Amino acid sequence: MSTEDQNQSTENLSVRPEQETEKIRSMFNRITPTYDFLNHLLSLNLDKRWRRISVKALGDLRDKRILDLCCGTGDITFEILKQSDGKCREVIGLDFAQEMLERMSKKAERNINKEKITYLQADATCLPLDDISVDHCCVCMGVRNINDVPKALGEIHRILVPGGRLAILESALPNSPLMRGFYYFYSRLIIPFVGKLVSGESIAYKYFHESIEVFPYGEKFANVVRDAGFAPVRVIPLTLGIVNLYIAQKPSEGEPG
Ligand SMILES: C[S@@+](CC[C@H](N)C(=O)[O-])C[C@H]1O[C@@H](n2cnc3c(N)ncnc32)[C@H](O)[C@@H]1O
Repeated sequence: MSTEDQNQSTENLSVRPEQETEKIRSMFNRITPTYDFLNHLLSLNLDKRWRRISVKALGDLRDKRILDLCCGTGDITFEILKQSDGKCREVIGLDFAQEMLERMSKKAERNINKEKITYLQADATCLPLDDISVDHCCVCMGVRNINDVPKALGEIHRILVPGGRLAILESALPNSPLMRGFYYFYSRLIIPFVGKLVSGESIAYKYFHESIEVFPYGEKFANVVRDAGFAPVRVIPLTLGIVNLYIAQKPSEGEPG
């Protein structure tokens, strides 16, 4: 199967063994110290724009309880606090990597709305949150790392209120052959080289492109989100298709799912 065919296959969404999940968690713990710096550097600061757009897609934030799933060092949480002008009810930063959450809480010390943040260390496939208790959820660059994506989507659906929004930002492969060629060059050679140089980690920045190349994107992934009961689900390609924003809604009561 070519990389392209593999990418169009949802077989890649099969459940990862526990051991592999543990490896991924430990990898994220290890790269935490240089995570923000490398994110901004390797995306040429485009990641900030993508986060802004993702949070905007959630719609009204005032008085809302919002889940930042796979929050990492918390940049989505901080963007939510900024865009809501501190008027959201609560932002829950949830991640399974302890180091990421600690980094996030250090960054939050400077934030005037820090009391709105709740930290949860948990797995995305088993959310320690009540049914119908969260208004919106955002998953930025996290979904392709989750060991059982349909299960995590089911969990998000369970905790969201009817009419609640889900915004998922995830990397994708650009459609144009020219752009795709350049993208492979950048993600397979430049990112692992610079990533290793700065963080000392080679596995993590090799994992970056390998995981993108096998993860379904576009309508294929939108269908996975639909299968979890969300409707409608829209796909918005950003920056020549190197990332996609999926905007989904849990149907309001009485609406078909
Ligand atoms: C690429 S980082 C993205 C962080 C952040 N959302 C951002 O925009 O920079 C992916 C994050 O997902 C977390 N993660 C991966 N799989 C997870 C899972 N099954 N449950 C909870 N967190 C997970 C990792 O620990 C990591 O912090």
